[in-house]
Amino acid sequence: MEQVTIPRGPAAAVPRTGLPPGSKAPSLLQGLRYARDPLGFLVALQRRYGDVFSLSFPFFGRLFYVADPALVKTMFTGSPEQFHAGEANATVLGPALGPNSVLTLDDAAHMQQRKLLLPPFHGERVRGYGELIREMTRKQIETWPVGEPFALRPHTQRITLAVIMRAVFGVHDEDRLARFERLINDFSKRVGLITTFPALRKNFGPGSPWPRFLRSRAALDRFIYEEIGLRRAEVQAGGEGHDDVLSLLLRARHDDGSPMSDEELRDELVTVLGAGHETTATGLAWAMERLLRTPRVLTKLRESLAAGEDDYLEATVKETLRARPVIVDVARKLTAPAQVGGYELPKGSFVMAAIAALHYREDLFPEPEEFRPERFLEGKADNYAWIPFGGGVRRCIGAAFAEYEMRIILKEIVERADLSAPDPRPEKAKVRNITLAPGKGTIVKLDRPLR
Ligand code: HEM
Repeated sequence: MEQVTIPRGPAAAVPRTGLPPGSKAPSLLQGLRYARDPLGFLVALQRRYGDVFSLSFPFFGRLFYVADPALVKTMFTGSPEQFHAGEANATVLGPALGPNSVLTLDDAAHMQQRKLLLPPFHGERVRGYGELIREMTRKQIETWPVGEPFALRPHTQRITLAVIMRAVFGVHDEDRLARFERLINDFSKRVGLITTFPALRKNFGPGSPWPRFLRSRAALDRFIYEEIGLRRAEVQAGGEGHDDVLSLLLRARHDDGSPMSDEELRDELVTVLGAGHETTATGLAWAMERLLRTPRVLTKLRESLAAGEDDYLEATVKETLRARPVIVDVARKLTAPAQVGGYELPKGSFVMAAIAALHYREDLFPEPEEFRPERFLEGKADNYAWIPFGGGVRRCIGAAFAEYEMRIILKEIVERADLSAPDPRPEKAKVRNITLAPGKGTIVKLDRPLR
């Protein structure tokens, strides 16, 4: 794997006194190394220091990474009151998602929102979106040029955005959808900068990022509140027929019997839209990036699909999310000191599950640099070793949806499109918003018209 520089040899023996090894003072250089190649950097740190290490970035302070399944289990199954994920997520996503978002809340308020959001994304219900996903994929791949290189990621993102907009809002008016798409794209573009540097959340003049972000958010919110109002009126008039996520949430009730407020609905809808399309689109771009550089796997996948089998497809999706985890780490903020891996970590610090480092541990995934879906056919991966969707009471609500969607889209592409990679070198991974994306967006060429 070209972009990863990994020192070999056994991890250094670590005395469990004081704080975990790694950088102590905030270092811009560490921040830049992380931003340039988070996957390679986290893997290298785990191989150098072992299962607990620390990084210190300007703006974020000291982060304690764990890269061992038993420690990740401690973190994911520890008391949610002590391991605050919402507070940690809010430091980067708060202004975009709002105060009621399941991603930025903690404790009882988090569980209340999570309980309402889980049913619409349950495995059974997710399968009802199969036809929609296929239709959106077919429509998009028909637009691909023959014989000219193009970046695949924007196309997979158009598919996943079209799917999530329809699945969540059930909007079918094409003009309204086009307007909605423009608003979401503009908003997503502005979240990145504000997300990375909270210090930029100030008005430095009308053209500066923060006022632009606020204008973009206001425009998106107006559209969403309009949509909520229309749908609420339909549901109140007895129109119980819709089964899109918004209609389900309008019918859902809190434990005390009260319905969700418009503000709660807005925050959850933006959360699901935001969390649910760029991640999946990037996962798909990585799947093709890996497949085109591992012809053995691509051929085997095509053969298994032709034989009507889905196991290898499922394993390919899992292996993609192992080898190129779209989210490389997840955070919990400590509300009280915690013992982690023999270290006493102070209150207020961030504990991070080093997803990327776990996925490249030789003892958990032999020959981790190899793209080999077979490893997921041989047995189920450990719940705390393969963690692209995080875990515990914060595990990704859309995991079943995302894997199902990736399988359907990948199947359509692989069966119908003869793609090749004009440049056979692996694409470097780069940070895109909060995801790990192929540096060039997975450049492909359609060698002949679609089958
Ligand atoms: C390949 C695609 C995806 C990946 C890699 C991914 C990954 C993640 C990760 C790592 C977390 C944090 C978990 C933790 O803190 O332990 C998360 C949370 C979440 N994801 Fe996803 N996700 C994906 C797709 C989706 C989709 C399609 C949706 C919705 C339709 C979604 C909705 C959410 C929500 C609502 C949360 C917050 C859960 C909570 O805090 O209780 N995600 N996701």
